[in-house]
Amino acid sequence: MTQESKKNRVTRRKFIKGLIAAVVSFEIIYVLYGLVGKKRPNLMNKNLFNAGKVSSFENDKIYPFGSGLFYLFKYSDGGFLAISIKCTHLGCMVQFDSKNQGFMCPCHSSKFNKYGEVLSPPATRALDIFPITIEKGEILVDNEHPIQRNIFKPSQLTYI
Ligand code: FES
Repeated sequence: MTQESKKNRVTRRKFIKGLIAAVVSFEIIYVLYGLVGKKRPNLMNKNLFNAGKVSSFENDKIYPFGSGLFYLFKYSDGGFLAISIKCTHLGCMVQFDSKNQGFMCPCHSSKFNKYGEVLSPPATRALDIFPITIEKGEILVDNEHPIQRNIFKPSQLTYI
């Protein structure tokens, strides 16, 4: 082995050691950052569905948001309720029947009133609702965190 190839070998060895040290350092920083991040949940990063301006909804009406998987109900006193589209029996998508002012499930015919309460089985529980936040006149729905309930209560409504 020549002097030159010995030199190259040492340099290559140093380079690989340095590379391994850098990767390990990145891993440690990544893990620590992840642990710190989990201790402080950042509410600003929540994925909220913007349903639009409060002023664009009429009282006592239901508005479908298919892409958000909910119906937005504006109660007669102006309160809002975001009702999940998912049937509480086996998860089919319920449809709003404007003639009967309620929801109907096409799979096994469960029926719900306009507040999402069960009118006829096999579903035994009211349709889930989603938390609503109103910010700067916009309705933001947290459609990733359904809330289970058995009946409708006015306390479930969100106001400006
Ligand atoms: S899934 Fe809706 S009634 Fe069965």
